Amino acid sequence: MAVKTARTRIVRRWRKNMDVLDDAEYVDTLQTLSEGSVRRNFNPYTDIDWDSPEFQVTPNDDRWILPATDPIGQHPWYQAQTRERQIEIGMWRQANVAKVGLHFESILIRGLMNYAFWVPNGSPEYRYCLHESVEECNHTMMFQEMVNRIGVDVPGMPRVLKWLSQFIPLVAGPRPVPFFFGVLAGEEPIDHTQKAVLREGKSLHPIMERVMAIHVAEEARHISFAHEYLRKRVPHLARAERFGLSLTVPLIMRVLCQAIIVPPKAFWQEFDIPRSVKKEIFFRSPQARQFLRDMFGDVRMLCHDTGLMNPFAKLMWRICKIDGPPSRYRSEPARQHVVSAA
Ligand SMILES: [Fe+2]
Ligand SMILES: [Fe+2]
Repeated sequence: MAVKTARTRIVRRWRKNMDVLDDAEYVDTLQTLSEGSVRRNFNPYTDIDWDSPEFQVTPNDDRWILPATDPIGQHPWYQAQTRERQIEIGMWRQANVAKVGLHFESILIRGLMNYAFWVPNGSPEYRYCLHESVEECNHTMMFQEMVNRIGVDVPGMPRVLKWLSQFIPLVAGPRPVPFFFGVLAGEEPIDHTQKAVLREGKSLHPIMERVMAIHVAEEARHISFAHEYLRKRVPHLARAERFGLSLTVPLIMRVLCQAIIVPPKAFWQEFDIPRSVKKEIFFRSPQARQFLRDMFGDVRMLCHDTGLMNPFAKLMWRICKIDGPPSRYRSEPARQHVVSAA
């Protein structure tokens, strides 16, 4: 009997958590986001002219050389390679980032569906989750088309994560809070890197430029939703649960971001890159460390504001090497010009 009441209590709390209609401000925000999705959205096959001459992928095109904002691109080892080699590595790297992006989005879509499945009638979360899924479906098509056009057979995510990807979406129904932190762990680094590349202004292949501009434009809403979702829920979690979460959030950020940013084993083998160079590029050089930290200013702010920063959590952020000051507002510092996808 006691087990049964405990169980009903858990289910009741879980249901109650999905009832958002009493929070007018939150409902309003979701309405705005949903309307944004209707007003401004992109279709991978009508908004990108894949068959136009300037979108063709041709051999020996300097525009595939990695930009200086890319950790590999800025490294002396890369810069010392021949031009042909730089192009070859650049194409592989950019195709693989697109593939990891679409793998990640595929997990996200499945998770959103699992979450939306249980949402009660009338909830604005249903509509927004579905808008977001539609947009992510379009992104995965756009990224896959890009990979196909570049023509390199890239693997995407590391193998372990591909196996785990079967289970991560199952978390979204019963445990949406850690799931949405996982969403941020994927979206923040991708968005951060794409914005940095667009801002750098290096001449990119038109496929890259168009795909990134479209993606950055739509991701802004997705990231807002994850932040709003968590701001609403995290402060009301039970104390012990919040403490546990405060320690796991930096871990989630670090593990997922690494899977996205660091190319898989096949890359280092294919181009015969020494291990020391790999370590240096992503973890040891001061630029690499700063690059990792910079990606999570907004998440640190979110944790700060929702009671997920305590001395132990701070230590955890430091151990994961992604500690630093929280942003003062989202997307700080004030961005310079970003190529628009309009
Ligand atoms: Fe996306
Ligand atoms: Fe997204």
